Amino acid sequence: MDIIVYYSLEGNTELAAQKAAELLGCDTLRLEPDKAYPTGKVTKFLWGGKSAVMAETPALKPYTFDASKYDRIIFGFPIWASNIAPPIRTFIKENDLSGKRFAAIACQAGNGAEKAFEKLAALLGTSPEETLILIDPKSRPSADNDAKIKAFCTRSAKPTVTR
Ligand SMILES: Cc1cc2nc3c(=O)[nH]c(=O)nc-3n(C[C@H](O)[C@H](O)[C@H](O)COP(=O)(O)O)c2cc1C
Repeated sequence: MDIIVYYSLEGNTELAAQKAAELLGCDTLRLEPDKAYPTGKVTKFLWGGKSAVMAETPALKPYTFDASKYDRIIFGFPIWASNIAPPIRTFIKENDLSGKRFAAIACQAGNGAEKAFEKLAALLGTSPEETLILIDPKSRPSADNDAKIKAFCTRSAKPTVTR
């Protein structure tokens, strides 16, 4: 069973996570930092950017995650300063993910996802087996984004799944 564990500041990653979860028929877990990052035009880049560059692990609001239920974790996150958004860092730090398989969905405005995947791999000790990069799927919807989500889910679907 898969779960998509994601963080989204402004809804792009949330949209991607929901679409992928529907196609995969899997669970989702949205991470929320205790102290929300600002969404102001300038403040979001200042605070979020600094937090990402400093590789912070912000405290998260309480969540329920039963690792034993899942064999694969798909991380979903916006790219912040060519890095993974910090709440994902916290989740990886505070959960025992040994023996799990990994995939990643990154939303970005321009570029940086490849670098962020390297940082994610360093944290996990292994590269995600599947990755998906989307360009602002909510604020700039496109057929290309939708096709990429479908292709990711097709690649990801286990042969044993029947529906
Ligand atoms: C703090 C911060 C840093 C960002 N850094 C990058 C970046 O390095 N490269 C990029 O392409 N987009 C960057 N973006 C844009 C977001 O990754 C992009 O808009 C993403 O789709 C937002 O996802 P969300 O709505 O789930 O938060 C940044 C956004 C923020 C708030």
